[in-house]
Amino acid sequence: MMPVSRLAGALIPAMTFLSYLRVESWEPCVEVIPNISYRCMEVNLYKIPDNIPSSAKNLDLSFNPLRHLGSHSFSNFSELQVLDLSRCEIQIIEDGAYWGLNHLFTLILTGNPIQHLALGTFFGLSGLQKLVAVEINLTSLEDFPIGHLKTLKELNVAHNSIHSFKLPEYFSNLSNLEHLDLSNNQIRNIFRKDLQILHQIPLLNLSLDLSLNMIDFIQPGAFKEIRLHKLTLRSNFDNMTVMKMCIQGLAGLEVHQLVMGEFKNERNLDRFDKSALEGLCNLTIEEFRMAYVSDFSSHDIDVFNCLANVSAVSLVSLNLNELERFPEDYRWQSLELVNCKLQPFPALALSSLKRFVLTANKNSNTIVEFKLPSLEFLDLSGNVLSLRGCCSQSDFGTTKLKYLDLSFNNVIVMNSNFLGLEQLKHLDFRYSTLKHVNDFPPFLSLTKLLYLDISHTHIHVVFHGIFLGLYSLKVLKMAGNSFQDNFLPDIFTDLTDLIFLDLSYCQLEQVSRGAFDSLLRLQVINMSSNNLLSLDTLPFKYLHSLQVLDCSFNHIVASKVQELQHLPSNLTLLNLTQNDFACICEHQSFLQWVKDQRQLLVEVEQMVCATPSDMHGRPVLSFRNTTCQMSKTVISASVLSVFIVSLMLVLAYKFYFHLMLLAGCRRYGGGECTYDAFVIYSSQDEDWVRNELVKNLEEGVPPFQLCLHYRDFIPGVAIAANIIQEGFHKSRKVIVVVSQHFIQSRWCIFEYEIAQTWQFLSSHAGIIFIILQKVEKSLLRQQVELYRLLNRNTYLEWEDSVLGKHIFWRRLRKALLAGKPWNPEGTADAENNQLEATTFT
Ligand SMILES: *[C@@H]1O[C@H](CO)[C@@H](O)[C@H](O)[C@H]1NC(C)=O
Ligand SMILES: *[C@@H]1O[C@H](CO)[C@@H](O)[C@H](O)[C@H]1NC(C)=O
Ligand SMILES: *[C@@H]1O[C@H](CO)[C@@H](O)[C@H](O)[C@H]1NC(C)=O
Ligand SMILES: *[C@@H]1O[C@H](CO)[C@@H](O)[C@H](O)[C@H]1NC(C)=O
Ligand SMILES: *[C@@H]1O[C@H](CO)[C@@H](O)[C@H](O)[C@H]1NC(C)=O
Ligand SMILES: *[C@@H]1O[C@H](CO)[C@@H](O)[C@H](O)[C@H]1NC(C)=O
Ligand SMILES: *[C@@H]1O[C@H](CO)[C@@H](O)[C@H](O)[C@H]1NC(C)=O
Ligand SMILES: *[C@@H]1O[C@H](CO)[C@@H](O)[C@H](O)[C@H]1NC(C)=O
Ligand SMILES: *[C@@H]1O[C@H](CO)[C@@H](O)[C@H](O)[C@H]1NC(C)=O
Ligand SMILES: *[C@@H]1O[C@H](CO)[C@@H](O)[C@H](O)[C@H]1NC(C)=O
Ligand SMILES: *[C@@H]1O[C@H](CO)[C@@H](O)[C@H](O)[C@H]1NC(C)=O
Ligand SMILES: *[C@@H]1O[C@H](CO)[C@@H](O)[C@H](O)[C@H]1NC(C)=O
Repeated sequence: MMPVSRLAGALIPAMTFLSYLRVESWEPCVEVIPNISYRCMEVNLYKIPDNIPSSAKNLDLSFNPLRHLGSHSFSNFSELQVLDLSRCEIQIIEDGAYWGLNHLFTLILTGNPIQHLALGTFFGLSGLQKLVAVEINLTSLEDFPIGHLKTLKELNVAHNSIHSFKLPEYFSNLSNLEHLDLSNNQIRNIFRKDLQILHQIPLLNLSLDLSLNMIDFIQPGAFKEIRLHKLTLRSNFDNMTVMKMCIQGLAGLEVHQLVMGEFKNERNLDRFDKSALEGLCNLTIEEFRMAYVSDFSSHDIDVFNCLANVSAVSLVSLNLNELERFPEDYRWQSLELVNCKLQPFPALALSSLKRFVLTANKNSNTIVEFKLPSLEFLDLSGNVLSLRGCCSQSDFGTTKLKYLDLSFNNVIVMNSNFLGLEQLKHLDFRYSTLKHVNDFPPFLSLTKLLYLDISHTHIHVVFHGIFLGLYSLKVLKMAGNSFQDNFLPDIFTDLTDLIFLDLSYCQLEQVSRGAFDSLLRLQVINMSSNNLLSLDTLPFKYLHSLQVLDCSFNHIVASKVQELQHLPSNLTLLNLTQNDFACICEHQSFLQWVKDQRQLLVEVEQMVCATPSDMHGRPVLSFRNTTCQMSKTVISASVLSVFIVSLMLVLAYKFYFHLMLLAGCRRYGGGECTYDAFVIYSSQDEDWVRNELVKNLEEGVPPFQLCLHYRDFIPGVAIAANIIQEGFHKSRKVIVVVSQHFIQSRWCIFEYEIAQTWQFLSSHAGIIFIILQKVEKSLLRQQVELYRLLNRNTYLEWEDSVLGKHIFWRRLRKALLAGKPWNPEGTADAENNQLEATTFT
């Protein structure tokens, strides 16, 4: 045997070689969408793979050490639309590297230490819309050779070392530019001349991001008469003084949206005072956003005075604390306060406000009454609110409310019936706790409501009128609630416009047959994650528009054939995954139905059996109904064999003695016979047997040895065994003494039947009938077999006359002598025989 070390020594290089082969032949890229999208991220490629089809539109080559892009590197992929070359250690890009990529609209070059960008670097990209050149060691926009990319919409040069904000001349060619991201560079000053080009060409919709540049100075008037879509200035200022100065420097700017503030983890300002935003009065602003300003805690509402005329204000993660009431003349139409630690909620009274969002505020659990007469949209989700009464016009001071979101709050008591809020179209209570829903139809007045979400609101539906009045409702989500007796009653009668119904996680065990009958427009029902045991399609019978039925995550074992007959005709998706299917022959028609409906069933390959244990976890589709046929044959075979066995047992019981006889024949077959004849007779005829038969045969010449049960049967042995062993087996012949009594005795008949079998079995045997007295024909006929035999065979008739007796004994002796082996003592018999023969004839 080879030593282990030598074996290992041979194996290890072999395996290394094999694994090397494997890597070489291995397709490194993931085909995300065949012929379209390929991901080759971080697979150690040194060159562009050439086994990607030329039809590819999306190619991700990020995190590969490509290092060098030669010219025409991508000429084989003329259809490319998105090319990701992030962190490919690219230092050199030759002229015309992207030549031929006329359809490319996104090029990502993030994180490549590019040393030099020649003039022709981006030649050929005639359709490029988005260029991401983050972290590419760019020091200036001036030398960036993109002047010919006229289609460019978005240019991201964040995270570089750009010092100057000067927008180069070539920007006049980029007339489509909408986004310029210069964040995280080293711009410190902004001068009027830097923006010269924006005066020459009207880039009216430019969004400019200058965040994370440490700006010291903005020349006043630099942005004068400049129009921007969006200006983002976050974490730009070292202290309040600089910030204030720079904001003043923005004077004259017209901007749709101004975004200020800092980042969660990038904080510079140590304090914030109300004068900070004063400079904004000289700007024209539509929307204002501010986020993450530390120590904003201004009790002085004047800080927003310069923003009085903006239409939308959004304040995110500011420490507003005890914010005073906003002046009523503010023209805000939309106000967002997210995570602002308000305590308590501000008493709002803004006549123009249409949209109010106050979320993620964990510091106050009640609302102060609002006076917002124009309010249409109210989002109070994700707070810790408890409402002792909900909801009516007086709570929000408006009758125009269309959208109300009170989700993810605490307890909400439904007691106001939405009085004065009849315009509501969208209502969301999910994950709050709703109380008193069962007292009266809570939504009765909301005839215009389109969307209602009461998922996970701890409702236990008892009251069948819960949804009365919702005639316009299109979407009802009520997942995660419960029903009385886990039974879904007919509660949807008014919802004739409903399109989407979510009843998942409702612990439902049964569905009323008419539950959905009025929902003629329903397209989706979600009954996932309930406790249904069977799929009954009858309740869905009238849902002609139903397209999606989700019954996944139930305990459906199977369904009866008649339950599956009402599948709505328009159904296109039926989700039955994650149920407890029993893959047994009893349900084979259901399992066959699953196979037949595989077009309809979602992820039909993932539907697995729960029982029996040998099928557990195996696909339902793998169930073979042939096994049922097999087991059918097995069953019928075993039934048949049981039948045969019992039949044989019955027969054996019936012919037990005949069988014993058979066995005996085998045993005694070759042996000598002890008796000349076994006499079967009725005990009533015993006198005749003793006095006539025995005397004449045993004492005559030659003497015959008779077997008589009263004399020769062995005591202590069962009588039946005696009959067979002593009587039949040891006797050459059987004498049947037929008489009236004989026919009437069952025992005699039994003996006689055995005798017949015996005659049949042993060829030499013979039965001699003696008719002792005339038997009535009718009686004899009852014993059909005997009657037939007597008719067919000759028999001896006993007669009382002397001559008759003489003839009788002669004939009997002759019959007994037939087949008797030669015996020296019996020479006289021969004479006798001859004598008899002559006399007899
Ligand atoms: C992919 O392209 C090849 C060759 O162009 C073509 O034979 C195949 O059908 C395409 N596959 C798909 C899924 O379009
Ligand atoms: C383009 O593909 C052909 C074969 O498909 C290959 O020979 C050639 O080297 C490829 N060109 C590039 C630039 O990869
Ligand atoms: C950045 O580019 C300069 C030339 O502009 C080069 O000298 C320097 O090595 C580059 N830095 C890195 C990290 O590649
Ligand atoms: C701008 O476009 C013109 C042609 O429209 C071209 O001649 C010029 O070179 C471009 N400018 C730059 C800086 O590429
Ligand atoms: C301006 O750009 C924004 C996205 O930055 C876009 O939503 C808006 O529609 C654009 N406006 C015009 C007039 O093109
Ligand atoms: C504010 O920052 C500027 C530059 O960063 C500095 O010159 C000035 O002294 C600072 N002012 C205060 C009050 O800290
Ligand atoms: C607005 O700009 C004018 C000059 O353009 C200046 O006099 C005035 O002080 C500025 N107002 C504010 C609040 O900065
Ligand atoms: C807001 O508009 C009103 C009326 O047009 C004007 O009087 C007021 O000065 C404006 N306020 C600001 C801060 O621009
Ligand atoms: C049904 O609800 C479950 C659980 O909420 C969800 O995962 C599933 O996507 C829903 N199905 C449909 C068809 O919307
Ligand atoms: C069945 O679905 C199709 C499209 O999915 C739709 O056009 C048709 O109206 C639907 N039938 C009914 C009765 O809603
Ligand atoms: C059931 O299948 C539908 C259709 O594919 C899908 O939207 C839904 O999410 C599935 N349900 C679950 C619980 O995944
Ligand atoms: C058994 O399966 C075959 C083919 O899959 C099908 O034709 C036959 O109807 C099935 N028998 C039963 C009883 O479902």
